[in-house]
Order: sequence, then C-alpha cells, then structure tokens
Amino acid sequence: EKGNYRHFMQKEIFEQPVVVAQTLRSYLRRVEQTVALPQIDFDLASINRVTIVACGTSFYAGMVAKYWFEQFARLPVDIDVASEFRYRDPVLEPGGLALFISQSGETADTLAALRHCKAAGQTIAVVVNVPTSSMAREADLLLPTHAGPEIGVASTKAFTCQLAVLAALAAHLAVKRGRLSREEEAEIVEQLVETPACLNAALAHDEEIAGMAHLIAPARDVLYLGRGPDYPLALEGALKLKEISYIHAEGYASGEMKHGPIALIDEAVPVIVLAPSGPLFEKTVSNMQEVRARGGKVVLISDAEGIAEAGEGCLATIEMPKVHPLIAPLVYAVPVQLLAYHVAVAKDTDVDQPRNLAKSVTVE
Ligand code: M6R
Repeated sequence: EKGNYRHFMQKEIFEQPVVVAQTLRSYLRRVEQTVALPQIDFDLASINRVTIVACGTSFYAGMVAKYWFEQFARLPVDIDVASEFRYRDPVLEPGGLALFISQSGETADTLAALRHCKAAGQTIAVVVNVPTSSMAREADLLLPTHAGPEIGVASTKAFTCQLAVLAALAAHLAVKRGRLSREEEAEIVEQLVETPACLNAALAHDEEIAGMAHLIAPARDVLYLGRGPDYPLALEGALKLKEISYIHAEGYASGEMKHGPIALIDEAVPVIVLAPSGPLFEKTVSNMQEVRARGGKVVLISDAEGIAEAGEGCLATIEMPKVHPLIAPLVYAVPVQLLAYHVAVAKDTDVDQPRNLAKSVTVE
C-alpha cells in the first residue's frame, strides 16, 4: 500500500535507504569488514571475462558495474542490451561469467540471452529482485536484491539495490583475483555501509527538487550529462524523465557534447549535469561552460565543493553529500529520480502507470 505517499514511485524512492541496507546485509560481513556472496561455495577465481546483459534501467546498472569490474577486479567486461546481444552472435569463450540483471527476472529478451549463454557453456549469474523468477531458477549463481515488490513502472529502488549487489560482487571478484588488499576491501565495505545514510541525505532535498519542477516541466527536450560511472546515471535520468513526464530527454557522456548534441543547445533546453567533485570534475566544468556559452541552462548536481567551484551562473544546483566515488552512482540516482517524479507530478501524468509501458516486458 501507498501509506502516506501519493504514488508508489514516490514511496519506492523513499524506501531506498532501508531496502539498500537490507540488500547489503546479505553481502557484507560488517564485523570482519569483508564482502561475502550468499553462495560462498561457488568459486569465481577462475573467471576470465564478464558479459553483462540486461534491458532498460537494469542495463544502466550493468553499465555502472562495468566500470567497477574493470577498475577493482581488472576483468574485461562486455555489455549489451539483451535485444541486441541475443541476435548478434557474440563470442563466448570458456571461463566466462555471463551476468544478467533484472528486477522482474522475467524480461523476455534477457531470459533468451541467458539461455543462449547457458547453451554456450558460460557460468550464469543473475541479479534479480524476484527470487522465484525464471532467471533465478536458471542461474548458477543467484544474487538477489531485497528491494521488496516494485509497483511503479519506472524502476527506482530495484536500481539502487542492483548497484549495491554489483558493487559487492565487484569487490568479491577483486578479492578472489588478488586485486584488493584487506585494507582496500575493508574500505569498500565501510563505504557501502555508509550508503543508506548518504541516500537519506540525498532524499532530504525532496522539497527543494519539487520546487524546481516548474523549470523543467515546460521543456520539450532535456539533456543529461555525466562522466565515468556517473555517465550511466545520465542515461538513467533521461530514461526516467521520458518514461513518466513524456519530455524528450537524452543522456550523454559529458565529453560527447561537442561531437553533436551541442547543436541542440539553446535557452529552451535544460541541461542536467551530474558531476561529483573529483579528478574528472574540471573536465565536466569545461563541458558545462560550452553549454552556458550557447545560452544553455544548467542544473548542476554536485557536492558542496563542486557547487562552490562551478555553481555560479547555473539555473539551479542540487547539493549532494560528498561521497566516495564508489557509491556516487547510488546517491546521484536519488536526485534524478526525484526530478523526474516531480516534473511528472507537475505535468499531472499517470506516474505509476505511464502510457504505453508495462512493468514487466515478457514478450519480445
Ligand atoms: O525487470 P527488468 O529489470 O528486466 O526490466 C527491464 C526494463 O524493462 C526496465 O528497467 C524498464 O526500462 C523500466 N521501466 C525503467 O524504469
């Protein structure tokens, strides 16, 4: 039930600190400060590459995971949307882990891709929110998210729980491959344990974001920009906005702006920039300046440091807590979800049941 919330989506956004903590509980040993997968008898040390396949928001969680698997575990990662993967005759060599990510565990294309990889001799891992689903039943390694039932068609809490599991999996693979010291593993565990509190800090901006909805609601097009592991968040932000507010939105890697999309920029196109401070921040700031020089209106989502440096002249800023780069994608998911939600409310659309969309896509 919706309780005090107006929509299921809103309730599910606000549940994130609790369900992410709930999910992490089964992947972290807090006292020992180690990562532990539910099926610890399964040895992943021999895995030599990872193939990630999913659709929609689950695919974006996979894109974030690619950065983590490469950075921490030094594993080569191939990733594709299921509808492309299953028909492109991918090269699948022995020793590969095929990883499928799905809230429902029933998405037709993802399930078909899973069966294809199984027939090709890959080890099958699944991150699913429904433990009784087809994908869960057909997996060698089941990695459940504990988000609870997700009713809103726009996925929110399933996404952040997927990211939590994938971060734990990345750390586990890194340990297995001798790529993480005890101290580094403990540091990752500590950061993940901090996540629910950081999600709460992000949620505290709800009213402020609601107040910005009128700035975005009249737009015909909106661009989202991000870099590194926050680039998939730009794609996710754009998907959320188009799904529920019906505004055309595109996510781009910040550095791709000048390769085409900058031609779209004028006063009528808000540009949402996701940029935690850090080594890549300066580069994103110069991309922002390119936007502003063409009359573009920037909404900057960053931390205090980033906003102090680049917030001036923005249409609006949303201040996130300063977080470790590992958990930034989980934390920055919250403002993009809230922004899409409030814009949809301002446009009076059917938030939980957007037109033309089904919660679970069980046909091709
Ligand atoms: O159940 P799944 O995670 O496999 O679903 C995948 C997509 O259909 C899903 O993420 C869809 O894109 C959502 N409506 C996004 O909000």
